[in-house]
Amino acid sequence: MDYLIFGLIAYLLGAIPSGLIVGKLGYGIDIREHGSGNLGGTNTFRVLGIKAGLVVTTADILKGTLAVVLPILFQADVIPLIIGLFAVVGHMYPVFAGFKGGKAVATSAGVVLGVNPLLFVIMLGTFFLMLYLSKYVSLSSMVTGIVTIIVTVIQQEYGLTIVISLMTLFVIYRHRTNIKRIINKTEPKITWM
Ligand code: G3P
Repeated sequence: MDYLIFGLIAYLLGAIPSGLIVGKLGYGIDIREHGSGNLGGTNTFRVLGIKAGLVVTTADILKGTLAVVLPILFQADVIPLIIGLFAVVGHMYPVFAGFKGGKAVATSAGVVLGVNPLLFVIMLGTFFLMLYLSKYVSLSSMVTGIVTIIVTVIQQEYGLTIVISLMTLFVIYRHRTNIKRIINKTEPKITWM
């Protein structure tokens, strides 16, 4: 029963389309009609600038964090990491935005933040190192997922390994068009780093 309740809460939290809300309310723009068309932090940075990008990225991270912290606070009879997966699914397929959501990156990171803050810091470091080296947000997101899996194996945190492997599969699946663009050399690079 706890899985049903907290899984549903997590899905609904994940499904809050922060990019759509900030874009529409703050700027009168549906960011899905601009840039990469993705309902995520990166595209918000791209289309609406740094302030909106930071707000959306932070909100998308916190959706994942809250989804795993709630069952911990309420001492629910669940594995919080599994509940976190529901938030990631909500973020990718949001009922509040026609099931057209983001690419699972920020919300997955938020789930990790909720259960293992040190691992979140390692993820951040990996992401920005990859971003510095490649200038591709998409590639950095995917590589961060893979590196994080390896770190959890080294730490012998096998529960995390399983869940982060699933999240990384989601991330790679949702970056199919980015992968094609990277291969065709048409994926946009960041210019500020
Ligand atoms: O977090 C999503 C990012 O990795 C790629 O986003 O908009 O460049 O497809 P975008």
